[in-house]
Order: sequence, then C-alpha cells, then structure tokens
Amino acid sequence: MKVTIDGHELEVEPGTTILQAARMMGGESVPPAMCYYSKLKGSGGKCRACLVEVSKGSEADPRPMPKLMASCVTGVMDGMEVKSITSEKVLDARKSVTEFLLINHPLDCPVCDQAGECDLQNLSFKHGKSQTRYIEEKRTFEPEDIGDKIQLHMNRCILCYRCVMTADQLTDERVHGVVNRGDHSQISTCISKAIDNEFSGNMIDVCPVGALTDKTFRFKSRVWFNKPFNAHRNCPTCSGKTTVWMFGNEIQRVTARKDVYHEVEEFICNSCRFDHKEVSDWTIEGPRKFEKDSVINQNNYTRPLIPVTIQTEDHILKGREEDRKKISMKDIPLTPKNS
Ligand code: SF4
Ligand code: FES
Repeated sequence: MKVTIDGHELEVEPGTTILQAARMMGGESVPPAMCYYSKLKGSGGKCRACLVEVSKGSEADPRPMPKLMASCVTGVMDGMEVKSITSEKVLDARKSVTEFLLINHPLDCPVCDQAGECDLQNLSFKHGKSQTRYIEEKRTFEPEDIGDKIQLHMNRCILCYRCVMTADQLTDERVHGVVNRGDHSQISTCISKAIDNEFSGNMIDVCPVGALTDKTFRFKSRVWFNKPFNAHRNCPTCSGKTTVWMFGNEIQRVTARKDVYHEVEEFICNSCRFDHKEVSDWTIEGPRKFEKDSVINQNNYTRPLIPVTIQTEDHILKGREEDRKKISMKDIPLTPKNS
C-alpha cells in the first residue's frame, strides 16, 4: 500500500499504522508518542500526543478525515495522504496536548531522577509553551510504598498505561493497575501489596516520565553525568543484554537497552537490573549510541573532549575564602570599620 507523509511517499504492508509508517521513514515527521509502545500489545490511543492530519483518506475515498487522528491507532489506507509537521493544525494540537499533560504534572525536573531522559521533558521542549494558563491547584496523591525496588511518584504519572501493560504481558501475577476513574485515576497496588516478580523492573524503563523510578539509583547522579555502556552477562532468566550506567568505575544503574524512540529493545530481569552492580559481573561491549537530540548526548564521551577554563571558579573560591575568614577568625570584624 502507498502512503504519503509530509510529501514523502512510501510502501507499507497492510495493517501498518500511520505512526509505524512514519517511523519507517524516520526524521522530523515522526509524531511524538507518550503512550504507544511498539513492544506492548494494545498500547496507544491514550495521550493524543501523536495526532496527525489525514488530508486524503485513501485512493478509494479521497475525502479528508474530519478531525485530527491519533497516528498510533489509525491504520494506513492505500493512497492515504498524511500531514505531520507540515500541518499548522497538528503543531497547534501538539502544543495543546503538551499543555494538557502538564496541567497536573509537577514541574520538579530539578529533583526528578527521570530528568534528561524524560519523554514529557522532550515533548515540552519541542512543543510546549513557556507559560501556563492553569491557575487551579495541581492534583496530588499521598505517597504509596509499592516495594523496595521501585519508587512510585503518582503526582508525576500521565496515565499512559504502559506499566500496567508491561505487568500484564510480562509477569504472572499482576498486583497493580489503574484504580478509580477520571481525575481520581491513579496507579496503585491491590491493598498496598508490594510489586515483586522477576520482570517488574521493566515498568521503570517503560514509564515515559518520572512516576516509576529505580530505588537503587535514586538521587545517586544526574543521568547525564553517567556514561552508559552496552554490556551483557550469562543470565538464566533473560537475555542478559543491558546498558550499564557508570560513574567512574562504579556501575550506578542497570537498564534495558533502548532504541531511538526510547523503547526497550529486550526486557530484562530484576536480577540483572538490581543485583549485579559490580564491573566484574559484566562483559562491557562499548559505549551506547544515543539519539541525536538527547540531553544525555550533551555529555557524549564518544566525541573528543575540548578542555575549557571556567573563570567563575576563581571568583567563587575567593568568595569562599572571605567567608571562611569571617566565620573562623574572631578578629576580623563582620562590618567594615568606618560604617
Ligand atoms: S506510572 Fe508511568 S508508565 Fe505507569 S501509567 Fe503512569 S506514566 Fe504511565
Ligand atoms: S502515542 Fe498515540 S495516543 Fe499516545
């Protein structure tokens, strides 16, 4: 079947969605996705970040579709013409969706472990406005303990359902899901049970925001200070292919390997993720490659480093020296003599 996206024509198999077709093509026309996850059956259709304009329905019925369509759940028809970044309406809608997602999401990036690899941060950077029209109080939740390995920050959740699908499709005994409805919807466990099974850690990797984070890595480092290497080990439970995030010679975090769309390539077990943090546990293959626009890429050590001299450092140190004198030496008056 033929489909044209932003003026580029390509051939796809029947059953392909517009988002999948755009990803085959690559580049700027690929719509952002906050809930769709190609590795999870039934994902998508929740966040509306991936809206596109269908300016021609198909060869058989060329009428445009009357409203913007969620590209992750709309199948391609033969002869379809789609506008993604070439449509003003789409760009406007993406701005509105971003604003909507941020209505209840706290702006706590400076203290959030997901900062630097957060899909919502990237979406806001590209499509967000620098101000908000929302004056009401943000929705907040009581902190809830869901076990010793995963931290739940419900205030940050955008209800994409990815973690619920991961638990459904990867583990035998799912104990968590979305409870309540509408504005009160929240991720929770059944009667505060701990999430405890061999593949539960993958929920951390699929979460597009900082709602589910790794307790063994929390507050250890900003992700852009870590150097990620692809590594593997002989694991009886999963493929053992991971990315290890290093600070000096220390492995601070282990995650699954992710592709350019931040999707896990292969899900990994909790033993690889949480229990193997010694360099001797792993065969290091080499630096992980990054997508071009990643914040982590700013610290890309695969490029030669250019040394810089930071002038301010001297001034800061001088200031500290003055403070130190004032605090520790009684004979230095705190106020100037002739004041
Ligand atoms: S906790 Fe994360 S993965 Fe789960 S629904 Fe919320 S945002 Fe999605
Ligand atoms: S990615 Fe399509 S609706 Fe969320």
